[in-house]
Amino acid sequence: MSIKGLKGFKDILPAEVGIWQRIESSARALFHRYGFAEIRVPILEQTGLFLRSIGETTDIVEKEMYTFTDKNGDSVTLRPEGTAPVLRAFVEHNLHLLQPIQRLYTIGPMFRHERPQKGRLRQFHQMSVEVLGSEEPLVDAELMAMAWQLMQELGLTVSLEINSLGCPQCRPAYNQALRDFIDARSDKLCEDCQRRRQTNPLRVLDCKNAGCQEQYQGVPELPDFLCADCRTHFEAVQLLLGLLGVPFKLNAFMVRGLDYYTRTTFELITGDLGAQSAVGAGGRYDGLVAQLGGPKISGIGFAVGMERLTLLLEQSQGLQADSGTDIFIVALGEAARNRAIKLSQECRSAGRAVLMDPAGRSMKAQMKQADKFGARFTLILGEDELQRGVAILRDMASKEQLEMPLDDELASILANHVTAVINS
Ligand code: HAM
Repeated sequence: MSIKGLKGFKDILPAEVGIWQRIESSARALFHRYGFAEIRVPILEQTGLFLRSIGETTDIVEKEMYTFTDKNGDSVTLRPEGTAPVLRAFVEHNLHLLQPIQRLYTIGPMFRHERPQKGRLRQFHQMSVEVLGSEEPLVDAELMAMAWQLMQELGLTVSLEINSLGCPQCRPAYNQALRDFIDARSDKLCEDCQRRRQTNPLRVLDCKNAGCQEQYQGVPELPDFLCADCRTHFEAVQLLLGLLGVPFKLNAFMVRGLDYYTRTTFELITGDLGAQSAVGAGGRYDGLVAQLGGPKISGIGFAVGMERLTLLLEQSQGLQADSGTDIFIVALGEAARNRAIKLSQECRSAGRAVLMDPAGRSMKAQMKQADKFGARFTLILGEDELQRGVAILRDMASKEQLEMPLDDELASILANHVTAVINS
């Protein structure tokens, strides 16, 4: 019996890779325009990093982490998200000493043992972005503007929802108001909500149980409990989003699934992915760097889920396979074949994608292969052409044929010709 891939772990096949590359190159170019530099961090970290940052009573830490004991007895975890590893590296390498504000991004796989469904995998990929070193509202607004612009440049329609989760000064009062509200109807709530009342009251607002949602009608709203500083900060963020031309909606019930957030939180929401509506999400985490042993530095970031982006792009624009072969060289007879092998290498050095039939079969079989590889041109070189000192270039789209002198200049002439046709 053949061995299959693991449930929730997806192969990204060549036909899909074009979209992934397009997303990554658009994102890298855009992040650069906003002053971000790439950082690459390991996939495996000490488990304690995630317990301390994401929070011990979150779904991720309670149920979803791939945690195991390493051969030397250490508890290690496949990273479920990118923020904690980037901050760990930031602290470990004292990056705050290099620049007053660090803007970092990382792209790669994350692991959560969730129930797989459309847009939800166990190995998924994030583009994760962090700004460290400023609590100014402009940083929040610019970051959301960048996330928004990424969606625009990819041609996707999403909505930006924002909230403020307050700070350690004002959040306890809201938590208490929530507990009181829950107490008044605890017999009608699910077990999870009753448990969360103790451990993590904010999370009850995210409960999917319809009965609980009914009970939460009229629940106190967090923005009403913000302290003066958090309120001023949130108002400034909204004003700046307006200045930057980014439309947004307030969502007082967006609580996020990770414990490290303070003040601004946001999500990029789509209606086109069924239950998995968040294409990207993030927020401010002003206490997290210090919590991980670093200096008292504010931070904010977001991550976009690349599988969700690719699904949306496939739905709206179809698959975009990587561009195919430029020239397929059809060679007949040993002498022509040897000349063609040399020519193929010269054309590749001149920057074109070139293939040949390794077995050197009949003309018909080679032309069939050229078709299969989606070649834009075929170059035909038989014994007759060799004797006449020419090669025949056939445009596979227009079927026009052109005789070209078989001399030392052929590779560069071919490369220029193909470039001109492709760009026309
Ligand atoms: P998150 O909301 O857990 O935040 O994940 C961010 C995005 O990753 C989601 O909006 C979604 O698009 C994608 N995602 C999450 N889980 C899955 C999954 N199982 N399958 C497919 N896609 C998924 C974070 O991870 C934070 N670290 C974001 C952040 C960065 N906050 C500040 N800086």
